[in-house]
Amino acid sequence: MTAQIIDGNALSRTLRAQVAVRATTLQALGITPGLAVILVGDNPASQVYVRNKVKACEDSGLRSVLEKYDATFSEADLLARVDALNRDPAIHGILVQLPLPAHIDAQKVIEAISPAKDVDGFHVASAGALMTGLPGFWPCTPHGCMKMLESIGYDLRGKHAVVIGRSNIVGKPMALMLLGQNATVTVCHSATRDLKALTLQADVIVAAVGKRNVLTADMVKPGAVVIDVGMNRNDEGKLCGDVDFDGVKTVAGWITPVPGGVGPMTITMLLVNTLEAAERSAP
Ligand code: GUN
Repeated sequence: MTAQIIDGNALSRTLRAQVAVRATTLQALGITPGLAVILVGDNPASQVYVRNKVKACEDSGLRSVLEKYDATFSEADLLARVDALNRDPAIHGILVQLPLPAHIDAQKVIEAISPAKDVDGFHVASAGALMTGLPGFWPCTPHGCMKMLESIGYDLRGKHAVVIGRSNIVGKPMALMLLGQNATVTVCHSATRDLKALTLQADVIVAAVGKRNVLTADMVKPGAVVIDVGMNRNDEGKLCGDVDFDGVKTVAGWITPVPGGVGPMTITMLLVNTLEAAERSAP
């Protein structure tokens, strides 16, 4: 068997075209969806991510404002910028790129963002809304994974989903979203005993650890859906995920590639969240 590919680039194109249409509708009401992106310091990966986010906004008819500060920018000054953006009616979404320099308390900064503008979905109010099923912004990466499952018409009810990784940004919200669709969810992590015994039972596996070859072909039930959230480099410096793609694709029913899988979907869901924040602000 060779798995079918879930193409994150193609799905992103479709969803971003829908964002562009809805942005045009808002424009007619005099509202341009606006995203503020704050980057502190010169982390090279963050610079690439931020550039991609800003470009994606432009391509979909959203306005973005990029604020760059050097690594010595103080926590108080950053909190003051967040406060100003919270009160700016032209800004509907605020994203503070992580990681922040060590002298800044990232959680404090995230909690300073108005939940109505928390398009990353990292605020405790957003996490609480997801947990309780109330309206709020969902973190972009797991939300993108759910859209990928939706795109193949996958019915999660009663399925066993195994999430590998328990971060606040991916693993934990992913588990809640799968549970919200009536899957039976197992969350695995570094202290899990016999990971393979669990993944072999899974109908859906989401790998979100940040380590190569966490999931290999011998760990996958034939026909399972495999979602790879990892972003790693192999020995040749090539981008790769957490999943041994070449091996697992011979067993799985569906698989997401890296690159071209979850990565573009994360940015797409940021655009969707920003658009929704703008729509909710409309009179
Ligand atoms: N750093 C890596 N990924 C992300 C993300 O999705 N949002 C923010 N704010 N920072 C990140």
